Amino acid sequence: MIGLKVPKNNANDIRKVLVDEKLLNLDYKIYQENNFVYLPLISDFRLKELDINYDIVNVEFDKHKQEPKSFMDFLVDKIPKEKIEKIKTSFDIIGDVVILEIPEELYDYRFDIGNAALNFTKRKSVFMKKSEIKGVMRVRDMEHLAGECVSETIHKEFGSKIKLDIKKVYFSPRLATERKRITEQVIDGETILDMFTGVGPFVVNICRNKDVFVYAVDINPNAIYYLKENIKLNHIEGLVEPILGDAKNILKNKNLLFDRILMNLPGLSYEFLDLAIKLVKPGGVINYYEFSKDLETPIRHIHEFAGSRSVEILNKKYVKSRSPGIWHVAIDARIN
Ligand SMILES: C[S@@+](CC[C@H](N)C(=O)[O-])C[C@H]1O[C@@H](n2cnc3c(N)ncnc32)[C@H](O)[C@@H]1O
Repeated sequence: MIGLKVPKNNANDIRKVLVDEKLLNLDYKIYQENNFVYLPLISDFRLKELDINYDIVNVEFDKHKQEPKSFMDFLVDKIPKEKIEKIKTSFDIIGDVVILEIPEELYDYRFDIGNAALNFTKRKSVFMKKSEIKGVMRVRDMEHLAGECVSETIHKEFGSKIKLDIKKVYFSPRLATERKRITEQVIDGETILDMFTGVGPFVVNICRNKDVFVYAVDINPNAIYYLKENIKLNHIEGLVEPILGDAKNILKNKNLLFDRILMNLPGLSYEFLDLAIKLVKPGGVINYYEFSKDLETPIRHIHEFAGSRSVEILNKKYVKSRSPGIWHVAIDARIN
C-alpha cells in the first residue's frame, strides 16, 4: 500500500495535516526506519495541492489490532441488524458469573448472545434470567448459556467477599452503594438485627467496618449456609449470629432489643413492621425498604405501625427502579 516517507523531524507536523485532510489511513500503524517516518495513506490525491512534496512509497504497513469496543461488536455477524438493537446491553456481573436478560424475540439467538457476553466480559460463566424473582426466598430460574456451567462464585464489593450460588439465593450487585450508605450510618457498639439477611452482604460490610454484633435471620437454608461461609471468608467470626427461620416466629422468644433493624425484603417488609417496632430500642433506627411509587407511602406505613411511638425520618431515597413507575425505596427512621 502507499505511504509517505517523511524525515523524522517533520513527521509530526505532516501527520497532523494528513489527519485533518482525512488522508492518513488510521487502520494501519505508522513506523519509523533510520531517520524517516512512514505514514500510511488513503490516497496521494491532493498532496501536491497541500504542498507536501515527500516521496510516495509502496510498503507493507501493519494493521492496528481491532478490539471489539462493545458487547454488540461481538454480534454483528451473528444477529440480523434490526434485532441487534433490542439486546439489552446492561447486565449483572456477580463474581465470575454474568447474568443476562434476553427478550423473547431474541430467544433463538440466546447462545450467540451468551458467547458474546462471555468474550466481552472475560468472566467464566454466562446465565440467562428465565423467570421473575419469585417465592419467599426471592430466587429466579436461570438457564446456562456459555462458559463453565458453574453458578457458585465469590463477588467482591468494597473489599468484602460475598460467596453465593446465583441459582439458590438472592443477591443483587446493584445494592452495593446502598450497603455502603448503611454501613456509614452504623455506630460502634450497636446491636443490629438483619431481618432478611440473605447471604449477608449488609452484615459482612458492616462487621468489616464497625465494632458491632449482628443477629442475621433468613428463611432460606442456602442463604444461611453462604452467610456462614462469608463470615469465615471475611474473618468476622464472633460478630454475627446466623439464624435460620421465619423472622416472624424465630425472634419472638429471644428477649432481644436492637439499636438498628435492617428490613430489605421490599415486597413484604410491610408485614413485618409491627414486629420491627416491638424489637427496636427507644432511639433505635429502622432501615426500611419497600417497593413503592413514591416516598410517602412507606413513611406512612412506618407511622401507622409506630402507633404512639414518635418517628423521626432521617433519610428517604429511591434506591433503584423496580419496574416502570415503581421504585425500591429506602427509608431510615428513628423510633423514639
Ligand atoms: C430481597 S432478599 C435480601 C437479602 C439481603 N438482605 C441482600 O440485600 O442481599 C430477601 C431475603 O429475605 C428472606 N426471607 C423472606 N421471607 C423471610 C422471612 N419470613 N423470614 C426471614 N427471611 C425471609 C429471603 O430468603 C431472602 O434471602
